[in-house]
Amino acid sequence: MNDPNGLVYFKGEYHLFYQYFPGDIVWGPMHWGHAVSRDLVHWKHLPIALYPDSLGYIFSGSVVVDWQNSSGLGQDGEPPLIALFTYHDMAAEKAGKHDFQNQGLAFSNDRGRTWVKYAGNPVLHNPGKYKDFRDPKVMWDQLREQWVMTLAVKDHVEFWGSKDLKKWTLLSQFGQNHGAHGGVWECPDLFPIQVEGTSETRWVLLVSINPGGPNGGSATQYFVGEYDGKNFVPDPGFDADSSLWVDYGRDNYAGVTWSDIPQQDGRRLFIGWMSNWDYAQVVPTASWRSAMTLPRSLKLRKATQRYRLYSQPVQEIQALYGKKAVIGPLAIQDNYNITQTTGLGKGPALLDLEFAWQEGIQPDFGLRLKNPNGEIYRIGFDAKQNQFYSDRRLAGPNTFSRAFGASVHFAPRIETGKTLHLKIVLDHASCELFADEGATTMTEIFFPSGHFTEIELYSDKEPVQLVRGSIRSLNSIWR
Ligand code: FRU
Repeated sequence: MNDPNGLVYFKGEYHLFYQYFPGDIVWGPMHWGHAVSRDLVHWKHLPIALYPDSLGYIFSGSVVVDWQNSSGLGQDGEPPLIALFTYHDMAAEKAGKHDFQNQGLAFSNDRGRTWVKYAGNPVLHNPGKYKDFRDPKVMWDQLREQWVMTLAVKDHVEFWGSKDLKKWTLLSQFGQNHGAHGGVWECPDLFPIQVEGTSETRWVLLVSINPGGPNGGSATQYFVGEYDGKNFVPDPGFDADSSLWVDYGRDNYAGVTWSDIPQQDGRRLFIGWMSNWDYAQVVPTASWRSAMTLPRSLKLRKATQRYRLYSQPVQEIQALYGKKAVIGPLAIQDNYNITQTTGLGKGPALLDLEFAWQEGIQPDFGLRLKNPNGEIYRIGFDAKQNQFYSDRRLAGPNTFSRAFGASVHFAPRIETGKTLHLKIVLDHASCELFADEGATTMTEIFFPSGHFTEIELYSDKEPVQLVRGSIRSLNSIWR
């Protein structure tokens, strides 16, 4: 599997479709896999939703609820679910054509259980100028009363408008001179969001790029600005080569947000693919290959003169909470073994840690995961450099990929508060860091030869104060 697709909420269910090749654990002819959840945490696998056909493989795309039946594809007065996805025509690509990526439509009138491909596909044909023409993300623009499709087109995005989800006209383009351009643009997402604590609404545009991420390979940048129904105009500061990142880790790619979250809920919910094209095809797993990040709730806040996205795991993860132990307050010099003192930390866990240190010193501290094979993963903060880091160089055999464990990965600290807060979610093969209430996030995967069985806190150079801390074990999402 790779990208999440078709994220939509409908009749009590969160749908998660995803890029899926059922025939192998490497990328191949793409289908849409399908899972549903009632709480974003426990998921049920459903049969494959979309199979490739004569028009091509089924690449990434989105699903919306067509509440007013603008498409005319609904049944019995119920709104249909409409999927817009990219048809990737392999034969046309091999034949050297330029227009092998086109947008197709499929609809469902049974809560996403079965899908019918629209007879008039493709609904949006590639004009042929750019080969990369994919990953439609559709939203209902309430102010202008039209559907808006954001499409990734090589090195920019295009906005297309429609009244019926079937006929599309080009509204505008954005991005050739904005943001990071280390690789091709993919999987965009445009949405309005209220600035936290105000009544102001801004528009956020997510754009994944591969390669060109802050720590190499795949990553997701974002822009904040205005959208007037035609053009997206970014705030100052988003010039060429200046970008903000949803996540600084190596393993959060192609993430987009859920459609049709009820207004009473009001959240902007996001999920990403927890891998990186630098090594996604060769990670040392057997019956599975890669996973999604935790579902996250995105907020927009004005911080250090700019609007920034903050991400937090959804509160629903409380449903997984197991045993809890309080850690500290205590001073950490060298190291402090959490597992030995609390008995927790042998499996998936959530850590909540708040640190402080004396003025004038610059500690380097964090969390170390260890196993009996001598393998170590570190996630920490270096006060001197004012940055977070993730170090998986010694976290397991790294011979499957040169790109995987070659270096330490860094993320800037954005908040400047007196204390530093880390929320860390650990699974057997991943670490998700939400620092300073989600101002900086880092998601990284690792493959130890045996499970990590011990967690310790460390402070390498100077002492650091753990003001407040807790660890909870997390239960399996598979009940
Ligand atoms: C991103 C991506 C998309 C494409 C899909 C194919 O990871 O390359 O642009 O639609 O994966 O699987």
